[in-house]
Amino acid sequence: MFSNPKFRMVSIGTAVSKLFVKSNCQRFKLFQRKLLLRSYNTIKRKTAKDENFLSKYLYNKIKAKGPITVADYMKDVLQNPVSGYYISKDMFGESGDFVTSPEISQIFGEMLAVWFLNEWSKIGFPKPLQIIEMGPGRGTLSSDILKVFSHFKALHNVSLHLVEISPVLSELQAKSLCSSSFLTNNMSNPIYREGISHQGISVYWYKQLKDIPDGFSIILAHEFFDALPIHKFHKTYAGYKEVLIDIDKIESEEIKFRYVLARQDTPMLKVLVKPNENREHVEVSPDSMLIYEQICRRIVSSGGIALICDYGHDGTGTDTFRAFKKHKQVDPLVQPGTSDLTADVDFNVIREVAYNYGDIIYLGPIKQRNFLHRIGIEYRVNALKENMTDKKQIDNLIACYNFLTDEEKMGERFKFCALVPSTLKKIIDMHPIVGFM
Ligand SMILES: C[S@@+](CC[C@H](N)C(=O)[O-])C[C@H]1O[C@@H](n2cnc3c(N)ncnc32)[C@H](O)[C@@H]1O
Repeated sequence: MFSNPKFRMVSIGTAVSKLFVKSNCQRFKLFQRKLLLRSYNTIKRKTAKDENFLSKYLYNKIKAKGPITVADYMKDVLQNPVSGYYISKDMFGESGDFVTSPEISQIFGEMLAVWFLNEWSKIGFPKPLQIIEMGPGRGTLSSDILKVFSHFKALHNVSLHLVEISPVLSELQAKSLCSSSFLTNNMSNPIYREGISHQGISVYWYKQLKDIPDGFSIILAHEFFDALPIHKFHKTYAGYKEVLIDIDKIESEEIKFRYVLARQDTPMLKVLVKPNENREHVEVSPDSMLIYEQICRRIVSSGGIALICDYGHDGTGTDTFRAFKKHKQVDPLVQPGTSDLTADVDFNVIREVAYNYGDIIYLGPIKQRNFLHRIGIEYRVNALKENMTDKKQIDNLIACYNFLTDEEKMGERFKFCALVPSTLKKIIDMHPIVGFM
């Protein structure tokens, strides 16, 4: 019934790769590369117009393989290289699907920057310093952090490293952060974009954390892990079963999907659900676990501090897989690719990964309102207020402050945790990490 877009891609790819085999002439290779890019862009243009591309893609996949895991579904919907939600558009702000703390007010990034500067100062400002941000969105948080570091003249021997899968967002980040930037166009180089920030430091873009060179690092992940795929399990009379996604029906040309339970125990069920588990729904993200471990390895071997901020719970959350479109919660299975998919971060898993890795001190989780208050957000708000004369500006500042800290807004649902190497224990005992104690 539906043409298979994946097959179309493969045939164009095969045609071009056949050309590659025929010649090793450099100019011809350049020509071929342009051809490949043009074919890819044509597919992208066509599919960008086709809002149902992902529905058809998933339909074909499920027809061929049977029901897929929620993790597979999330990965395709969010990260599909042609039409994935994160790959093809800017989804932030009022006209987008959701808003994040750094986008609400510069105060948020400023407070985090001051926190990092304070913790970095306690160990004598080791250099060179790599600031790493995972999933930087529009680049607003890194931009606010660099402004504060620059204000304190703390950017000597510092570089910025961004982990981002979206070509569209990496371009937006470059525009917001850099005075100049370029795509490296070198398949063997894990750095796919490079630039110089407005403050004059080097900025690099990668697809994966593990590609960033070792070195003392400040690592920041804000609303990054909630976008990574989860496996979902449901408690039944016959024990836990993995939740899968199947085709439901086709109604007025629209493909509908539905949840089903796996009949047999899946490999992920055996590995991810603990014997003493008791929650009705269990959601686990092995992709996130892998990155938590990479963060631990990095800060134990090269030194550093990591701050993870996200929607989350401490091992008690159950059914949190959801979708957002135009600031409203919608059904994650309707029109895949047109809404953001997310699941709460399980901070207890971060703690466990850190504990199992060893030589790591884990702090948190703590609610955003408590963290921001403890690190002195009121002082910053008051200082800004004193320099304002316009009532509208003051009202706006207060509204932003409330949005970041109110229990019903972002103050309660967002949590923070920090990871530091246990070699810093003596220093931390003398000067506890601010915000967590
Ligand atoms: C919800 S947004 C958060 C953006 C930003 N941190 C903020 O708080 O405004 C998630 C970000 O992570 C990126 N992202 C999602 N999955 C990713 C992955 N697997 N690898 C790298 N980046 C990813 C998205 O493209 C986007 O920039």
